[in-house]
Amino acid sequence: MLVTLKTILSKAHRRGYAVGAFNINNLEICQAVMIAAEKMRSPVVLQTSEGAIDYAGMDYLAAIARLAAEKARVPVVFHLDHGKDPKLVERAIKSGFYTSVMIDGSSHPYKENVRITKKIVAMAHRRGISVEAELGAIAGIEDFVSVSERDARFTNPEEAGRFVRETGCDALAVAIGTAHGAFKFKGEPKLDIVRLKKIKAAARLPLVLHGASGVPADIKRICAKYGCKIAEARGVSDSLISAAVRGGINKINIDTDLRLAFTAGVRHALAKHPEGIDPRKVLGPAKELIQQVVMQKMKLFGCAGKA
Ligand code: G3H
Ligand code: 13P
Ligand code: ZN
Repeated sequence: MLVTLKTILSKAHRRGYAVGAFNINNLEICQAVMIAAEKMRSPVVLQTSEGAIDYAGMDYLAAIARLAAEKARVPVVFHLDHGKDPKLVERAIKSGFYTSVMIDGSSHPYKENVRITKKIVAMAHRRGISVEAELGAIAGIEDFVSVSERDARFTNPEEAGRFVRETGCDALAVAIGTAHGAFKFKGEPKLDIVRLKKIKAAARLPLVLHGASGVPADIKRICAKYGCKIAEARGVSDSLISAAVRGGINKINIDTDLRLAFTAGVRHALAKHPEGIDPRKVLGPAKELIQQVVMQKMKLFGCAGKA
């Protein structure tokens, strides 16, 4: 069944676990995520980025996701990921497809971020749609030249409390050291969990961790074996994810690990069957690997069995 982000996250916030939010770009990814959610009896967020919408079309992705939600016995949120352009967010709200949107005003100064976010919150809430906002620059710890620069760009706990009160958003994405993509850390993975706990105490609402992929070693090995050049890829360790959930994270965004699983499956299938030309034989194994990755995440995040 299709539900709002607020519905599933307020429960996660109260009970101290996180719900996985997975980026979908096509039918196979969506189906793999849904099979995993059903098997794990887990609530799930299906999300589409601006890039996914450019690639497949909002209406096609919405048709796939909404059908998946209708058939599901677990709660499903259909969410717009990283809406940077308020016009696209407005389009998503008015489309009637989405039950949640993210307005990402994080590249703007505080006041402008508040202004843009507030406007979207008013428009979305009128239609019963949830809103995720973002404060701080989501980037890896090594992306800053100094500790003072990092301090200035990571989410400020006191500002987060004020931002939530001023905007009325339903969930807040925080910057505590994760980065998007497969190359998050040069050395040992680190997150600012002390800061996260302060943000949670000040904001007192569901918090979101972006850039949370783990770059699983087994998947990375398959990718590398069949020619993918990702030796330096490094993600957030499972123990850091658990610490982040204990620190107050209730929604965890995963895209890169699905891409890696997809790539591993496709490369393996093509290498094993050079004579093959059936797309279903190429994409089927990829779907299977994505499903396994998603099931592992649901156990790790604590949302398995919470549907
Ligand atoms: O937040 C980033 C997600 O991985 C989406 O990436 O914009 O390439 O679809 P994308
Ligand atoms: P990853 O690149 O770590 O999977 O993060 C995805 C994300 O944050 C989507 O919004
Ligand atoms: Zn993100």
